[in-house]
Amino acid sequence: MKAGVLGTGHYAPEKILTNKDLEKIVDTTDEWIRTRTGIEERRIASDDENTSDMALKAAEDALKEADLTAEELDLILVATVTPDQPFPTVSCILQEKLGATKAAAMDISAACAGFMYGMITAKQFIESGDYKHILIVGAEKLSKITDWEDRNTCVLFGDGAGAAVMGPVSDGKGVLSFELGADGSGGKHLAQQDEHIIMNGREVFKFAVRQMPESSVKVVEKAGLAKEDVDYLIPHQANIRIMEAARQRLGIDESKMAVNVNHYGNTSAASIPIALSEAVKKGKINDNDLVVLVGFGGGLTWGAVALRW
Ligand code: ACO
Repeated sequence: MKAGVLGTGHYAPEKILTNKDLEKIVDTTDEWIRTRTGIEERRIASDDENTSDMALKAAEDALKEADLTAEELDLILVATVTPDQPFPTVSCILQEKLGATKAAAMDISAACAGFMYGMITAKQFIESGDYKHILIVGAEKLSKITDWEDRNTCVLFGDGAGAAVMGPVSDGKGVLSFELGADGSGGKHLAQQDEHIIMNGREVFKFAVRQMPESSVKVVEKAGLAKEDVDYLIPHQANIRIMEAARQRLGIDESKMAVNVNHYGNTSAASIPIALSEAVKKGKINDNDLVVLVGFGGGLTWGAVALRW
């Protein structure tokens, strides 16, 4: 028995902030943002819409797809660096709002790699037999820690939430292998200082174009498979050039990589589960496909999973 994904969900706020809108706020151009990052627009949560509100909508969507009720959940994990407040955690707020009365709840803080850390934590509880159904949510309201006067960072980020319900699966399906890592020495390159995100874009870029391809290949090899076996790649949606590096290293066709960075920007921990949920709903992932999910983030952190769907 392995741990697999039983259902996925996502939610993005209604308000769209385009590159053209940003041209009016900072000294930038639509052309610069598109060519350097692949981003065209991002979603921004309303003032009264908090991280837990977005998490709730994504979670409900995932439970519906999994055909489970909230009461069947044993554990709720929420990956976020923008919780409503330090405590109570987003996972506890979500537990109450969902009515998941039997579930334990905790938040995970690993920046953009948070959802990968959540999946691997869930896998341990499920494969040990201790828990059966675990909800993992990646949810972020990055707009509240974005410095709207800093063109180096404000063009990159967006708000949203994605979720997956994991549980036991059979027939060789589920998580085949994983890789998690951290390098605290690189933490200074991407951080929240006082109220805002600060970033050394070039250093983060160098780290990411090395780490994403390396981790993607590693999980495939750890699963005893070859790059050619990969059917679908879901990379963290930070920058199309970084994502392309991973795709090219795996040698897979463009049509086999999830891309929504153009519409959402970088939604940190929410990016991988939003992309996963969209891919599932669009029918891009089929029964028995080998799916690779890979992310990197502030910390620095990274994580990848090879999953038989
Ligand atoms: N519009 C116009 N010019 C800009 C903008 C902007 N929005 N932002 C920066 N510039 C300028 C800079 O001032 C700089 O000018 P200078 O050379 O005169 O000093 C120049 O553009 C920067 O050029 P590069 O550094 O060569 O730009 P690069 O091609 O590296 O792209 C980018 C920058 C997009 C930030 C890239 O480095 C990147 O994507 N890095 C990774 C960022 C990332 O993924 N962060 C999220 C990590 S995940 C998480 O945990 C949140």
